[in-house]
Amino acid sequence: MIGFFDSGFGGLTVMKEYLKKYPEFDYMYLGDQANMPYGSHSKEHVNKLAAANVDFLIKKGCTLIIIACNTASADALRHVQQIYKGKPTILGVLVPAAEEALRKTRFGNIGVIGTRGTIGSGAYERELNKYATEFYKPTEKRAGKTIRVYSQACPLLVPLVEEGMIKHVVTRMMLRKYLRPLKHAHVDTLILGCTHYPLLQKEIERVMGKQVQVISSATAAANAIDDYFERHPDIKNGITTGGTRTYYTTDCPERFSDLGSRFLGEKIEGEKIEI
Ligand code: DGL
Repeated sequence: MIGFFDSGFGGLTVMKEYLKKYPEFDYMYLGDQANMPYGSHSKEHVNKLAAANVDFLIKKGCTLIIIACNTASADALRHVQQIYKGKPTILGVLVPAAEEALRKTRFGNIGVIGTRGTIGSGAYERELNKYATEFYKPTEKRAGKTIRVYSQACPLLVPLVEEGMIKHVVTRMMLRKYLRPLKHAHVDTLILGCTHYPLLQKEIERVMGKQVQVISSATAAANAIDDYFERHPDIKNGITTGGTRTYYTTDCPERFSDLGSRFLGEKIEGEKIEI
């Protein structure tokens, strides 16, 4: 079984991409609504919450765990990987998004938007710079060229999406405000470094203009898994199949089911649990 966790329902945008590719696997999703939003917690607190979530999913029998939350991937991936030492495999959404941006950028100007936690952690900048030096083959056009990363925290976008205000004038106004510095910096590629932003992708693309490639960390994470499974067939073969889907939440199952259905694009029922 593949286990996903997030601070709430946003991570369902990531699971949705996996479901499209691998509907045959068994899936479990844990939304830690009682502790959301992760984006405004300290790294230490997110580490603690992430470890508890992973522990829960392991006890439920998950053999592959995806941290579907950008903030938790930024703050806590290394922490939980160190605790569990590869048993089970735990992956985040940040590295795949960084790699896809490096593949797609034309001039090396990469923008990143996310919660305060994700942007404040500097994790995207670190990953992009780390991978940039080893990413391109010497024969590739971008080899040896520097990349520039422009980051912008967009704390109001999560509540606006949760309120269903996707096409609202206030959301459009906030998008123009948040994205202006990135447009001025002439980013050619923009990473949507938050679970909620795929729901705003069309609006963001409209503000940024056609020449900017917009990368969803949810899609990037699901695309990267094909390659991961090819390199680790044992992990793929260890995932149980049967197409079951179980949804847990640490608070308000009604709200989880309501918003979760919107994020996943199909009706779901969340069961409340204590962890
Ligand atoms: N899931 C979070 C993320 O992707 C957004 C919501 C929150 O801050 O909890 O960063």
